[in-house]
Amino acid sequence: MAETSNRRVLSGMRSTNPRLHLGNYEGALRNWVKLQDEGYEMYCMVADLHSLTTMYDDAPQISLNSREVAKDYIAAGIDPSRTAVFVQSHLPEHSELHLLLSMVTPLGWLERVPTYKEKQQDMQGAEREPYGLLGYPVLQTADILLYKPVGVPVGRDQAPHLEIGNDIAKRFNHLYGIEVFQPYKYLIPEDESRATVPGLDMRKMSKSYDNFIGISDSEDETAKKIMSAFTTPTKLKKTDPGIPEGCAVCQLLRLYSPNWQKQWDEDRHGERGCVQNKKELIEAINEHFRPMRERRKQQEGSIEDILKAGADKARERAAKTLDEVKRAMGLY
Ligand code: TRP
Repeated sequence: MAETSNRRVLSGMRSTNPRLHLGNYEGALRNWVKLQDEGYEMYCMVADLHSLTTMYDDAPQISLNSREVAKDYIAAGIDPSRTAVFVQSHLPEHSELHLLLSMVTPLGWLERVPTYKEKQQDMQGAEREPYGLLGYPVLQTADILLYKPVGVPVGRDQAPHLEIGNDIAKRFNHLYGIEVFQPYKYLIPEDESRATVPGLDMRKMSKSYDNFIGISDSEDETAKKIMSAFTTPTKLKKTDPGIPEGCAVCQLLRLYSPNWQKQWDEDRHGERGCVQNKKELIEAINEHFRPMRERRKQQEGSIEDILKAGADKARERAAKTLDEVKRAMGLY
């Protein structure tokens, strides 16, 4: 059953927000594009069902967001003529495998997942916490196993989910006495210092903190956000020394400005002001993301066709695996 030429890779992001940000790009998307360009057979999914675990009262918004997220994938360099770009709920195979795997997943494994505990607290009480939240990693496992990938490129925060996935796969093989699944690798960005992008307030860049710059923000939006970003609090005038390590603008300069070392030196020695830093950062970010923003504009309009073709391509794989799973279990 082992396939020798397996070059398949799958990944996804939730669509709880209509805009992907620089943190999503550096933490995962950049890696997806690299793998695609190295010739891997990529499946890039928009995880709308996962978004329901926290936004179950706003499915129409999730559906709108999903289209925007898919456009951001393409803007970032995912090429739909080579890579399947699709929405999770368009393939019922994901839901069906999720249900079957939920039967072989011990409850204790799920209760221990750190992201579950965090989200559970956000939900404020069992009456508001959906059963689906507990199954989040099982659904993610179904997403992955349907494609039997060699690897799954994600940010480091997803490691606990990926680990459970390999455990569930192993347990499935063991229970039904047949090697339906092989372990997959976690493909986490090598350059850790680049993969964690600080937000405009120096906390981690995140949609829930509203401290982000979107991949597809306009140049004006980018400028406005950066002008109000956090800098060294004790640097009130140009000649005061800055502390680049603790300044959001300097941290972002390091990622996007070719002269960041000179800028940091001058900042540290009171030879430049925060406004100059901000202006140069606006330039650097706008320049870096300009080609992506242009590409996004060009493919406006065709997204429904892209998602349909992506789902068709994904289904070829997914349906085959689901069939194999049911036969392994003796369910026919
Ligand atoms: N949980 C992932 C996130 O929050 C999204 C996701 C859903 C995913 N299914 C997946 C990632 C399968 C990788 C593989 O970003």
